[in-house]
Amino acid sequence: MLKIAVLVSGRGSNLQAIIDAIESGNINGKIEVVISNKNDAYALERARKHNIEGVFIEPLSYKSKEDYDRAIIKILEDKNIELVCLAGFMRILTPYFVNKYRGRIMNIHPSLLPAFPGLEVQKKALDYGVKFTGATVHFVDDGVDSGPIIIQSVVPVLDIDTSETLSERILKEEHRIYPEAIKLFAEGRISVKGRRAFIKHN
Ligand code: GAR
Repeated sequence: MLKIAVLVSGRGSNLQAIIDAIESGNINGKIEVVISNKNDAYALERARKHNIEGVFIEPLSYKSKEDYDRAIIKILEDKNIELVCLAGFMRILTPYFVNKYRGRIMNIHPSLLPAFPGLEVQKKALDYGVKFTGATVHFVDDGVDSGPIIIQSVVPVLDIDTSETLSERILKEEHRIYPEAIKLFAEGRISVKGRRAFIKHN
């Protein structure tokens, strides 16, 4: 059973999708801990409701970003975590963290990367005028939203879309493809060569 940690900062709807996929038996894994950099993250509440340990780590208590990441890593090591899932975790991991868990950190992003990395992603897509956008699950590397892509899902942009309506439709796809990517990882079906992630189909 894959030991998973989920790192969050906010409402945690992707965390919920992962919890649901585990509870329904879709993913052979267990969320050992949910770690947040925000005390009031609703994601922590979701964890509690499902008897999952939720930990808030206060960024201001640490002198450097690396010290902060070391505090997270301490927890991950104590729990023998095999996969770290970022789910709306609004901090950039230090190279120290990425090197320790390379190939074992996933993130979800609300665009078809490499288009529109960073923040205010749906607004960027609307401002640019793309006709299609979507969601991407990828491994985390040293850059921002730049690691090998595992799954993408395409969402058409409608003339009437606002950032909110577009976000909502993209989020539905996020909730579908993030658990799917974790399932593939848990089944050992993802391999990475250079920038490319390959999925073994049975
Ligand atoms: C999601 O839309 C996720 O793709 C995005 O934050 C939201 C978190 O929502 N992440 C990023 O933009 C990372 N670059 P959630 O807390 O409800 O899962």
